[in-house]
Amino acid sequence: MAVLPMHYIDKDPILRKKARKVKDLQSPEIQRLIDDMIESMYHYRGVGIAANQVGSLHRIAIIQRPDDPEPLVLLNLELTRKEGEREVVEGCLSMPGWQGQILRAERVWGQALDRHGKRIRFKGETDLLAQALEHECDHLDGKLYIDYIRDKADLYEVEVGQEEDGEGEVAPEPGPRAVEAASKQETLR
Ligand code: NI
Repeated sequence: MAVLPMHYIDKDPILRKKARKVKDLQSPEIQRLIDDMIESMYHYRGVGIAANQVGSLHRIAIIQRPDDPEPLVLLNLELTRKEGEREVVEGCLSMPGWQGQILRAERVWGQALDRHGKRIRFKGETDLLAQALEHECDHLDGKLYIDYIRDKADLYEVEVGQEEDGEGEVAPEPGPRAVEAASKQETLR
C-alpha cells in the first residue's frame, strides 16, 4: 500500500471533474487503488476520501467514522434520495486550514458496491454517515462543500494540523479555534 499525493483546490481541475463508473472492479489496478486510498485516508486523517482527491477519476470513495472498525469501500456510489435539512460544519482534505458551515440533508438513501462487487444499500442514513456520504458523493461529481456556502462568514480558517479538533474530511464538530475564528467573523480572502 502507498500514500498517494493529495490534490488541493485551485491547483487541480480533477477536483471539478466527474468520476466514471468502475467496470472491472476485480482488476489488480482497482484493488490496489482501493488499498492506496485507505492508506491515504489514514495518512491524511480523514473520515473519508474520494478518488478525485488522489488523482483518479474512478468512482470510488472510502468512509471510516471514528467508531467504525473497518473502512467502508464504496464503488460506484450513488445517492438516490435525500430528506430534510440541517446545519453542519465541514472540512475537506483538499482544503486544509478551512472549515465551513453548510446545509446537508437529515437522511440519505443510496447504493454502492463493496470491493468484491457486493451491493451495499443505504436506507435513510443519518448523522455523520449521511454527511460523509453526501460529501464523498459530491467529490465524485466534481462538487465541493464550499459550493454550498451561503455567506462568506460561514467559511473560516482553522489552524492546519488541528485534526483532533475536527478538521479533516467532514468535521462532525467545530474545534475551539474554528469557533474562535467564526466569532471574529473572519472572511474569505
Ligand atoms: Ni473532501
